[in-house]
Amino acid sequence: MFLLQMRMKAILNRAPSLGVPTHIAIVMDGNGRWATRRLLPRLAGHRQGMESLRRCIRACLERGVAVLTVFAFSSENWNRPAEEVSGLMELLAGALAKEVPQMHADGVRLHFVGERANLSEKVRTGLTTAEQATAGNDRLILNVCFNYGGRWDLVQAAAKLAAAKVEVTEATLASALALAHVADPDLLIRTGGELRLSNFLLWQAAYAELYFSEMLWPDFDEAELDRAIAAYAKRERRYGRVPSPASSSASTSSSRQSQAA
Ligand code: IPE
Ligand code: IPE
Ligand code: MG
Repeated sequence: MFLLQMRMKAILNRAPSLGVPTHIAIVMDGNGRWATRRLLPRLAGHRQGMESLRRCIRACLERGVAVLTVFAFSSENWNRPAEEVSGLMELLAGALAKEVPQMHADGVRLHFVGERANLSEKVRTGLTTAEQATAGNDRLILNVCFNYGGRWDLVQAAAKLAAAKVEVTEATLASALALAHVADPDLLIRTGGELRLSNFLLWQAAYAELYFSEMLWPDFDEAELDRAIAAYAKRERRYGRVPSPASSSASTSSSRQSQAA
């Protein structure tokens, strides 16, 4: 099983270096501030954030993005007031009932990524039902990270390997992570203006291109997504290598001269 996952990962890892990213990951931050600025309860911001996600999924489908991974609830978000946490759980349960049929019709395949043990029975059943219902779709893979943390993922992966007595290598660890079914993200966007990962995709973001947006998540729209994609298209992904000859600049031509001399 590990071998198969590793082969799949190798195939999926052939991401284009220019143009539209194959895999976009988003920290959907800023819902609370969006609401507070309007003198609304924070939950109103989360509700509006759901609208924004719907718009973003449509935009990704239109642009041919293959994988979208969103951070919806972190391992640390349990530390928020009980009312906000239960509101977020209800929002998820409601979204499972309301949004999944349209996603299915649009060819979206859903995966929920995160610890499920401390979610309610109702939510857990809803997650499994949504995943099963959309399992045959292939236009867009949507990974919803809920009750997720990068550290949680690394620990559960290490525990899985230890239990199976599998040697720990980069490849076996990667294949035991909760996002082993997709290649690493090409572009990681964080809205809301904070310049941090907040425990998102600690392993998978190793070579992601980062884009920080001042826009609060409920305001994030197609135009801002296109700005992020345009910024990504201009980046040179080197993976530790030296710049490619195609991206030669004045400094490269001067090094060519010194080579000739
Ligand atoms: C992100 O928005 C959504 C979740 C973390 C659930 P926030 O709720 O963190 O919004 P801000 O950062 O307080 O504005
Ligand atoms: C990250 O946002 C988590 C999600 C967007 C789900 P937070 O609002 O929880 O992150 P911090 O607290 O600003 O680091
Ligand atoms: Mg926040």
